[in-house]
Amino acid sequence: MNILLTGGAGFIGSHVGDLLIEHDHQVTIVDDLSAGRRSNLPPGCDFYEMDIRSKEINSLWQEKQFDTLVHLAAQMDVRKSVEDPLFDSDVNIRGSLNLMEAGKDNGLKRVVFTSTGGAGYDDNVTFPTPESTPAKPISPYGIAKISFELYLRYYERQYGIQNIALRLANVYGPRQNPFGEAGVVAIFAQRLLADNDIIINGDGLQTRDYVFCQDIAKAIHLALAYEDNGFFNIGTSIETSVVEIFQLIRQATGSDAGELHGPEQSGEVRRSALDVALAEKELGWKPVVTLQEGIRETIEYFRQLQIDPDKR
Ligand SMILES: NC(=O)c1ccc[n+]([C@@H]2O[C@H](COP(=O)([O-])OP(=O)(O)OC[C@H]3O[C@@H](n4cnc5c(N)ncnc54)[C@H](O)[C@@H]3O)[C@@H](O)[C@H]2O)c1
Repeated sequence: MNILLTGGAGFIGSHVGDLLIEHDHQVTIVDDLSAGRRSNLPPGCDFYEMDIRSKEINSLWQEKQFDTLVHLAAQMDVRKSVEDPLFDSDVNIRGSLNLMEAGKDNGLKRVVFTSTGGAGYDDNVTFPTPESTPAKPISPYGIAKISFELYLRYYERQYGIQNIALRLANVYGPRQNPFGEAGVVAIFAQRLLADNDIIINGDGLQTRDYVFCQDIAKAIHLALAYEDNGFFNIGTSIETSVVEIFQLIRQATGSDAGELHGPEQSGEVRRSALDVALAEKELGWKPVVTLQEGIRETIEYFRQLQIDPDKR
């Protein structure tokens, strides 16, 4: 496939790029490097430092005639979306539409989009939550992601562009940004390796469904072979609290740093875990990396970075 991968210099996108290139796809990456890093780029891809909202997207598509869009570029911070919903929607809705408008006249046949499961449902649901549960996002970020799923259905009806939305749970692993607001595993690993205390928002009993980045890359790769349209939860169905994550990482790093508690954050649900039976049935995907293994690999990555920061 001739693939445009957006956000390929970012955390998840770089793992996706690695896998797509391993499977001999032609991969072009667009990323504005607002959060991504050049050093994450998979060897063997073409790279354009470009904003998905820019006019240049259209000229690039005219020139390259991508048949497939794997769309990960996003403002991905729930709290930032609460502080600045206009910016969030500008990138996550307008930017995404800019890609579709460029692609629809220039050979686009299919889209795989990373939507949200963690921020897509509200608190009044069954756990693990199946896709049959109505999406009721409570943050601007979640609203923008679910809105774009609806736009994808429009492009399918209007232009016949096939689309698959993967509603991701909380993804963690090597290359996640440990300095942002999101990504407790990366933040805790980085801080505990340096023996710094951890600040937990609220009581820390809020739960999330933590899924390893390479399992996500595999889900995206399998979605490319799917011949229908649809949206699928991608997670592990297992709930883990922030306090449990803290304890697991503290034990694995051997740190004796302590936990402090800060205020709860707005725009976030209390519990989250996704039912992933549909993805297994339709895509043939299921998670294989356990939380213990994934945490070990993530800590090892950050340990290496502390020894040799140039590897970043
Ligand atoms: N990390 C998670 O737990 C999680 C959960 C659900 C969904 N997702 C989605 O997965 C995707 C990847 O997330 P991630 O965790 O790798 O985040 P990330 O911030 O590491 O990756 C996003 C990439 O998009 C790029 N980008 C941002 N704005 C851009 C713009 N206007 N133009 C071009 N590039 C731009 C950034 O530079 C970055 O490289 C996002 O769509 C995110 O919403 C992530």
